[in-house]
Amino acid sequence: MSKINALIEQWIPAHIRKLSAYHVQDVGNAIKLDAMENPYTWDENLRTAWLQRLHEVTLARYPDADASAVKAGLRQVMNIPENMDILLGNGSDEIIQMLALCFNAAERVLLVPEPSFVMYRLIGQAVGMRYLGVPLRENFALDVPAMLQAIAEHNPALIFLASPNNPTGNTFALADILQIVEASRGVVVIDEAYIPFGAETFMPHLEKYPNVLLMRTVSKLGLAGLRLGLLVAAPAWIAEIEKTRLPYNINSLTQVSASFALENFSVLQTQITQICKDRELLSQALRALPNVQVWDSMANFILFRVPDAPKAFAGLKAANILIKNLHGAHPMLENCLRVTIGTPEENRLFLTALEASL
Ligand SMILES: Cc1ncc(COP(=O)(O)O)c(C=O)c1O
Repeated sequence: MSKINALIEQWIPAHIRKLSAYHVQDVGNAIKLDAMENPYTWDENLRTAWLQRLHEVTLARYPDADASAVKAGLRQVMNIPENMDILLGNGSDEIIQMLALCFNAAERVLLVPEPSFVMYRLIGQAVGMRYLGVPLRENFALDVPAMLQAIAEHNPALIFLASPNNPTGNTFALADILQIVEASRGVVVIDEAYIPFGAETFMPHLEKYPNVLLMRTVSKLGLAGLRLGLLVAAPAWIAEIEKTRLPYNINSLTQVSASFALENFSVLQTQITQICKDRELLSQALRALPNVQVWDSMANFILFRVPDAPKAFAGLKAANILIKNLHGAHPMLENCLRVTIGTPEENRLFLTALEASL
């Protein structure tokens, strides 16, 4: 064993060595339908106006540590109640990390219904929490009795509920969420990353449930490159979680660009309306293919099952189209693939290539 390997064995704890780093697929010049990005760009006028704003940024100075203009913009666009505070993260991934750091202590449990967003597990395990996954029901609804039993047995410090859920695309019933919230002595984080695509938000109920924190991101809105996520919660919660936030975690270029984009939110809203329309068209077209099972989606992607997912995935890749192969990611996702809604032309190319690869 080399010296470095010996040092790693000695100093990197076993729970870190056991993890696998989050894998991002190699993109090249492929049509990219793998990561729930908005496929549209801005017109020339808007780009010019944005570049003018960037022109005013002084890179030699640290950013506004509180990012107050960004928070004001988010508050307005997302209808965040006045009595709730906002914590910003370098993507909601960073917020998950802050939450895990805050809530972690010996033997504390992180509970997540599965399959769901993989970063909950990866981050929870990285900070040393005990991770507990409870399978969703066959239709991907919450298995409330199983969740309640896990809560009673393990008293989780943190529960993450993504609604709409990734990678399944469905929302969880409010009544089911509330049963979990009411039974939990710990905190329930409702992750609304995909809320712009038509689902009902938990925001109006937030005040009533002191153990609920609400997480959002601008990534799926069309600003994935900015890396900006937010947590909305009562001021006392935010004040605690702020203690794990690194100073200046939202850089100046992100702050200026996010403020600009939020001022021009109607542009993103138009794009989202188009994405939702195209989701229905793509869903119908997928359902028309033989031997393809398609799940309803309230997000900007569709989960579907084919007879042989690795074969279909390889066929698409050969046609220069990148989607997400979920086969092997979880037992409930056997032969499942996930496609992000692209432009109508991208969707058409995807469908043609898929049909040829089944
Ligand atoms: C449910 C869910 N939450 C959070 C995220 C992370 O988003 P961000 O880009 O803000 O880190 C994702 C990304 O795919 C997601 O699917």
